[in-house]
Amino acid sequence: MRAFIAIDLPVEIKEALLRTQQKLKTESLKASWVKPENLHLTLKFLGEISFEQLNKIKQIITDITKSTSGFKIKLETLSAFPSLHTARIIWIGTEQAPLELKQIAQQLETRISETGIPQEQRAFSAHITIARIKNQLNSSDLKKTLDKVGNDVEKANWEFDCKEITLFKSTLSSEGPTYTALDQFNLKIT
Ligand code: 2AM
Repeated sequence: MRAFIAIDLPVEIKEALLRTQQKLKTESLKASWVKPENLHLTLKFLGEISFEQLNKIKQIITDITKSTSGFKIKLETLSAFPSLHTARIIWIGTEQAPLELKQIAQQLETRISETGIPQEQRAFSAHITIARIKNQLNSSDLKKTLDKVGNDVEKANWEFDCKEITLFKSTLSSEGPTYTALDQFNLKIT
């Protein structure tokens, strides 16, 4: 099965992200928009895993979440990956991820690599993909749009409590992916 580990988002954050997507559409940004039910913050993409790997990974997430306290995540940045010139993804997130979040991502990378899943080569970036870009965009138009809408994101002060980690199954189809929560793991209550 294809799977990944992520932070699911509260409904009010999904609504706020949907409003941002609508603003970007109003600015004529051409993209494929992530559906509200599919919005999440990825901690570790697992790819195709066996049943045996799934069980080991569940145990790893249990160990990590049992020893880590819940924390707050602020969403303050609207930007593009890998760069404005070669934008493939539009995201909202933070460049100042809380220590707990960075530690969880790091511990998942290290421990999951012991199950045969390769470690991510890119540094962890706390982001929520809100759109995917198929055709190359004009980078100065994109910068203007992201600056304008990003200003509202920065002012909005969106913040939410992260109390649990979710293991998702991803099913691909011609209508796009469907993500199903397989299991949720509570972080320590502070
Ligand atoms: P992204 O949002 O940065 O694109 C489920 O596919 C999640 O896993 C997506 O949110 C995606 O992150 C992330 N992911 C990371 N590496 C991936 C890969 N090689 N293929 C598909 N998704 C990947």
